[in-house]
Order: sequence, then C-alpha cells, then structure tokens
Amino acid sequence: MVNSMRISVIGGGYVGLVTGTCFAKLGHNVTIIDVDPIKVQSINKGQPPIFENGLEDLLKENAGKSLRASTGYESLGNAELVFICVGTPPNPDGSANLMYIESASNSIGTALKTNPHYCVVVVKRTVPPGTTEKIVQPAVLRASRKTESEIGFAMNPEFLREGRAVEDFMQPDRIVIGCNDLRAGKQVAKVYEKMNAPVIRTGLTAAEMIKYTSNAFLATKISFSNEIGNICKHLGIDVYEVMKGVGLDQRIGPLFLNAGAGFGGSCFPKDVSALVSLAQATGETPILLQSVLEVNEQQPHRMIALLEKRLGNLSGKRIAVIGLAFKDNTDDIRDSRAIPVIQELLRRGASVAAYDPMARPPMQKVFPTIEYGSSAAEVLRGSEGCLIMTEWPEFSRLDTEFDLMARRIIIEGRRILTCDGAEGICW
Ligand code: UDX
Repeated sequence: MVNSMRISVIGGGYVGLVTGTCFAKLGHNVTIIDVDPIKVQSINKGQPPIFENGLEDLLKENAGKSLRASTGYESLGNAELVFICVGTPPNPDGSANLMYIESASNSIGTALKTNPHYCVVVVKRTVPPGTTEKIVQPAVLRASRKTESEIGFAMNPEFLREGRAVEDFMQPDRIVIGCNDLRAGKQVAKVYEKMNAPVIRTGLTAAEMIKYTSNAFLATKISFSNEIGNICKHLGIDVYEVMKGVGLDQRIGPLFLNAGAGFGGSCFPKDVSALVSLAQATGETPILLQSVLEVNEQQPHRMIALLEKRLGNLSGKRIAVIGLAFKDNTDDIRDSRAIPVIQELLRRGASVAAYDPMARPPMQKVFPTIEYGSSAAEVLRGSEGCLIMTEWPEFSRLDTEFDLMARRIIIEGRRILTCDGAEGICW
C-alpha cells in the first residue's frame, strides 16, 4: 500500500495533467490548479482537454475521487508537495521565458502562508539551471514569509514523450530528484516509492541541467543521423542499414537514430535553443549544439530540393503534403517540419493539398488558404508530387492511392512507406 500524499499541481497543461493524473493513479491525493475554468471543468468531468494515449481511462478512473481540479489555490493550505508545471515559452532570442514560473511561485508562497505542514515546492518543467534556487525559492519564501525549515525546494524533471507520456511516467528509465537539502529530497522520493526505477539524487542545478542535456543529446543523435544520411544519399548507401549496424553497439544504442525530415515538437527545438542561449550567456560558443539546430533547419529544405530536381519548377503545380503534426499520434503541430515545407512550397508558387489524420484544425490556423483533404487519397488525386512528413502508421499502407497522382513522385521525410517508388530524403 502506497503512502498517500497530498499533492497540488500548478498548471493543467500537458505536463501537469499527465503528472497529476499519474500521481492519482499511484494512490496520491491530487489537486490540479489551472487558471482556465473550462479546462478545470473538463478535468473534473474526467474528460482530458488534450489527446494523449491512455490518459482518458486514467482520468475517468480517478476524477472526482483522488483527483480534482480547481482554479483556486486552496488545496495548498494542506499540501505536502506542490509541483510547478506551468509553461516556459521561448523568448524571441531562444532563451526560456520564466514569467509563468515567477508568477506561480508568488501565488504558491501566498497560499502556503497558512499551511501548517512542511511542504516541498518541486519544479517539474524544463527550466534553465539556477531557476529553482534563484527565482522560485526566493519568491516562494518571500511571499510565504516562511523559512527553509518550513518549505523545501526540489527539481524533478519530466521525461515525457507526447503520445507515450503515461507509459513514460509509469515506467521511467530513471527518476531524477535534485535538491539542496536532504529532507526535501526524501519527501519527493516518497511520492515515487511504488515505482520500480533507479532514483538519481543530485543538487538542484544539476537536475535542471540533466533535463536540458538529455534533450540536447537526443536531438544531437537525430541531427547526427540526418547528416550521415545526407552523406549516405550521395554515396547510394541506405542510412537505415548503417544505423542498424551502428546502434547495436551498446555504447551508442539503437534509439533516436532515425534519419528524416528532422525533429519538431514542443521540446527539442526549444530546449536546444535555450541551451545555446544559456551557453552564450556564459561566454561559450556552443558549436556542436548550434550545428544540431542548423542541420535540423536544413532537412525540410532538402525535401523541396529533391522534389524540384524531379519535377522542375514547382510554380502552379499541385503538391500533396501528407502528415502535418510534428510526429504520429498527436495533433500537435508545434515546430512541425511540415510548416517550413509548406511555407517553402507556397513561396515557390505551388498549390498545396494537405492531409493529416488529426492535425488539420491547428494547421488550418497557420495556413488558412491551402487545400485540406479528409484522406490521403483525396489530396493525392491529381497531384504532381507528394511529400510524406510524419510516420503515421496508416501511411505505411499507402500504395494504390499514389496511382491517383498525375505523376507518381513521392519524397519520404520519414521512413514509413512499404510500397515501391518512393525516394527518401536521405536514403
Ligand atoms: C521529447 C523527449 O523525447 C521527451 O523525453 C521530452 O522531455 C519532451 O521532448 P516529444 O517531443 O514528445 O518528446 O517527441 P519525441 O518522440 O522525442 O520526438 C521528437 C521529434 O524528433 C519528432 O519530430 C520526431 O519525429 C523526431 N525524431 C525522433 C526523429 O526525427 N528521429 C528519431 O530517431 C526520433
């Protein structure tokens, strides 16, 4: 039986919702706090405001029992742990904007004034090293008029992939707990005691850096594979065969070596940029990280170049773009590689017909004037070229649909098709 703890989660976005729901599943008593009353209402009804595999069942199972949502901070009056899960959007220069972290810290401090228990404030979101110690801790202590013997501080990064977040939460490779005093760390570790995963204890700033470094390394693996793929393409070598042979070396590992159109999403591009600007602020020139971003920027343009090589001038030509989300099984288009591809096609005067099983509504906001289809076949009909941008499983079965094209020219940005005749971006 788990030692049930009273937990408040600040921010009911993607990270907060998954974290809060999974804590409730582990047997804890959780309140998710969010400023948006519609989101709060939907969580309380057991309806996830976002799409995430497995989340709806967990929410239904726990909402109204061990999981509640609220727009107010009342639950902090009795909480043993407060997890900060509010967003850190990028500033125009790539650095992380900590505005929401700061205002959450002030509100937490005020709400903890009347809390009679020892409570630990835990930063869950990705923040630049030093944020918990230099921004969160002083703000909470100032607003609460309490001392470190009454409020502890910790940094406990999340490693959640969209689409697999519940699984990543419940079966983590490791749990990182950063803190500067033992008591705070112990209280955070109690939350996870039911889990079977190594717990790594570090200082506050090291925990913050572990998250940035993990994402930067994964992004580096991808850009590295893309660069090798670009070389392989010239040499007529299949980069997937190469990486299979490379990844079996235990020192390297087989994951995140899939070459293609590059990485998108809410984390990799943003976190690598934030690390670059952090490095620059220290006077370093992060050559490797800058190249990781540069390779990533170039990959979508390579798809256009390949298309142009096969089709000639793209002006006036109908081009099908298949897959709009940043990866499969999500409707999230943040930093999706389909965005620069569509931008470039439009710039060259092509007429774009786009399809995605889930991401049409958000993409319509970005590109309201292009054509959208409700199936791959619909957008392929009459097209002179096709770009595959996302590895949705349903795309792997596409074959006869390509016969609907005016010319069967298919450029694959993700290795997903099983039919003949497609050209890979770097294979
Ligand atoms: C990522 C991290 O994996 C997760 O730990 C985290 O903290 C949040 O960021 P997520 O952005 O959901 O998760 O997606 P992920 O599955 O990691 O893929 C990111 C991008 O990289 C996608 O665009 C994907 O298509 C691309 N990718 C991934 C590749 O191009 N090649 C690969 O081998 C793997």
